Order: sequence, then C-alpha cells, then structure tokens
Amino acid sequence: MANVVVVGAQWGDEGKGKIVDWLSIEADIVVRFQGGHNAGHTLVIGNQTYKLALLPSGIVRPGKLSVIGNGVVVDPQHLVEEIAKLSGQGITITPENLKIAENVPLILGLHRELDAHRESSTVEGVKIGTTKRGIGPAYEDKVGRRAIRLMDLAEPDTLDQKIARLLAHHEPLRRGLGLEPISAAAIRAELEAVAPKVLPYMTATWDLLENARRAGKRILFEGAQGALLDIDHGTYPFVTSSNTVAANAATGSGLGPKSIGYVLGIAKAYTTRVGGGPFPTELNDEIGQLIGDRGHEYGVNTGRRRRCGWFDAVLTRQTVKTCGIDGIALTKLDILDGFAEIKVCVAYDLDGQRIDRLPGAQAAQARVKPIYETIEGWQGTTAGARSWADLPAQAIKYVRRIEELIEAPVALLSTSPERADTILVHDPFRD
Ligand code: IMO
Ligand code: MG
Repeated sequence: MANVVVVGAQWGDEGKGKIVDWLSIEADIVVRFQGGHNAGHTLVIGNQTYKLALLPSGIVRPGKLSVIGNGVVVDPQHLVEEIAKLSGQGITITPENLKIAENVPLILGLHRELDAHRESSTVEGVKIGTTKRGIGPAYEDKVGRRAIRLMDLAEPDTLDQKIARLLAHHEPLRRGLGLEPISAAAIRAELEAVAPKVLPYMTATWDLLENARRAGKRILFEGAQGALLDIDHGTYPFVTSSNTVAANAATGSGLGPKSIGYVLGIAKAYTTRVGGGPFPTELNDEIGQLIGDRGHEYGVNTGRRRRCGWFDAVLTRQTVKTCGIDGIALTKLDILDGFAEIKVCVAYDLDGQRIDRLPGAQAAQARVKPIYETIEGWQGTTAGARSWADLPAQAIKYVRRIEELIEAPVALLSTSPERADTILVHDPFRD
C-alpha cells in the first residue's frame, strides 16, 4: 500500500483540492509540502463549498490528521483567519488534527508589502503576476538564512537578534525602493500578537510523519501550484518560488525519497494559466472565452480571470517526466462537451523546426507555435458521469489519445466539482 503524492501537472488550478479530498478517504494523514496561501483549493461537499489556501484539504474530513510541512511558508495572520473561517463553516480544527512544522519560515507584513510593490512596478520584466501574498520574498529570506521561523516564536529572548538580521537586509532594500522604514519593535509586536494563536499547532512534523509511516499509516502529500510553476523546471521567471515537482514532497516534509510512493498528476482536459508568462496554446478568441466561461476560470484567491487554451500534450508529457508521474487525474472534461472539434497540441514549431519539448530559454519559449491535432468532439454530456459507460464514445477516444501523447495512463476522471463525481480507473493507493 503506497503513499500518494498529488501534484499539478500544468500551471496550477487543475482541481487538486477535489482529488485530494476524494483520496483522503483512504489516507490517515494529508501533508502540504510547499507553497503557502497562494494556493486556492475549492472543495464542494453536498451543498457546502470550502475554499482553502493554506490548510491541507484533508482538514474537512473528521478523523484525518493534517500536516503543514517544513517546505511550506506560513503567514501566521492568514493561518489564524483561515482557521476561523473554516471553523465558522463547522469544521473542527484543533492542535489534535492540525500540526505545523516547527521549522516553517513565516511570511510577515514586510514580505506581502515587497511582493505587492514589485507587482506594481512599471519596470519591464519585474512583474510576474504573483498572488501578492509575500510567497516569493519569504522564500528569498529562507534561502538567505534570515527568515523568522515558527519555532523562533517560542524563544522570545532570541527574537530581537533575529529581527535585526532580517532588517539588515530589508532596511537598505526598502530605502532603495522608496518604502517607509519599518521598526524592529513593529515586527516584534506583529510576531508576539500571533504567537499564542499559532504555537499550539507546532511540532517536529518530520518525526511525527516518520513514526506514522513506520506504523503503517497512509500519507497523502498535497501539492500546490503546478509543475510548470516549479522554480527549477517551470517557465522561469514566470514561476512560483518553490519546487512544485513531486520529489519535493520528501524534502518539504522531512521524509526520505522512498516514502513518496505513487505520483498522481492532476491535469485539466484543457489548459489554463494565471499571471504572466508563455502559454503556447492560449486562445485569445471566442473559444478561449467560452472555455473560461463554462469552466468558471477565475482565481479562487485573487479573482483574476484565468487565461485559457487547448490541452498541451507537449507540456504535460514534460511534467510527467519532471515529476515522475505514474498516473493522471483528468479534470473538467465536461467543459469540452458539445464542441464540434477539439484541438490538442502535439508538438511545437520553433523557427520552422518541429520540436517535442518546451525550450528552456525565455525568448524561445515565447516564440514557439503549437502544432495541433484535431479530434472530433462529442455531443451529449460527460458532466456528473460516474462510470466509463456513462461517457460518449468520442470522449473516451479523447482521453485515450491524451494518455498516448503524455505517456501516462489516466487513473481518475473527475466529472464535476462534487466529490462523488469521480471515475476510478486505478486506485493510486493500491499501486
Ligand atoms: P493552486 O494551488 C495557479 C502563480 C501566480 C503567478 C506565479 C507566482 O491553486 O494551483 P506567487 O504568488 O506564487 O509568487 O505567484 O504563480 N500561482 C498560481 N497559479 N494556481 C496556483 O495555486 C498558484 N499559485 C501561484 O499566478 O503567476
Ligand atoms: Mg489557484
């Protein structure tokens, strides 16, 4: 019985939350291992909709342990708000069912401010189209060895020294950018105000997870964002600031690489992206508009309209490789219901040459033109289907063609946001 890691196989927003929620029936523990509250995971359960950003999707299921691993960056103020919001919806969140790694770096007000300041820049190339949640600046401070981490809140005597180190970097930066100076006392006050609210959740999660693993507990690792937003393997610099690929489930939770097990990639039956950066199959026409309208393609967090386009098999095949994906959960097939024909990108044209992967260099990425294969669409509906027998034959053909092109099988098919509307082909936990 393997553990399972769920990762986005595109640019995020593939429907990971629903799949994690569905899979968590079989799991004991759900672990977030990277990103922060830049994620936006929507869970629809009966007539209730839950919107999660930082908390693992397992939190809505009684009896499951939720863990925020060391690879995550935590905005403590946001954490308190998200816990309060979900508690208001009747979800029980206590230090018994939520554990946070003691070594997570914290996102502070100065990180949010810096992120937003860069996003308001008119200097060519500075704007990435981030969620302005402070994610990038917080990861910069982690790697720069000046982050304040959760455990530091439990050692108030050492805080002043740590804040001084943080400000030794941020003060000249802020001055140069024309931002108001920020005092050490203000940061200390910010930290002291949240400390008693977040410290009860703190623990050595690497140890807890290792003990759970040895005791035969089943762990579900919940990725945020998507492999094309990975800091190393994504469309740099239009990426997020963490490793979103599956291997980081180990590093970001403090377990060894063999503990990961089955890698489930989530992909939409078409492609979307929020923020800037290359997007070869983007449709700036009425078809793109239609896909966006039917798919309700608006960011959960920021409300931004997502860019939409045809399924890009070249990119998904690439993420199948960079993540070591064993199987795919294909989502939102129903959005393509009723199209006369559907296109799939099977290769790119770069300056007259046919290539079968996205080039690494930024300018070349922007120049590639998709080479499409046209597939006949289907009449009738796939929405809400719960077995293959419910699907139109042509829809099955589309799924089969995608499997061939991306070199990975479809393990799950999700046919609506509702948790039960899922067709299981292969149970990832029984690999
Ligand atoms: P989920 O988990 C889609 C994008 C932002 C921006 C880039 C960098 O819902 O799939 P950041 O704030 O992370 O520094 O922004 O990454 N981005 C996402 N896009 N889904 C997400 O999360 C995203 N999280 C970040 O739009 O282009
Ligand atoms: Mg999102």
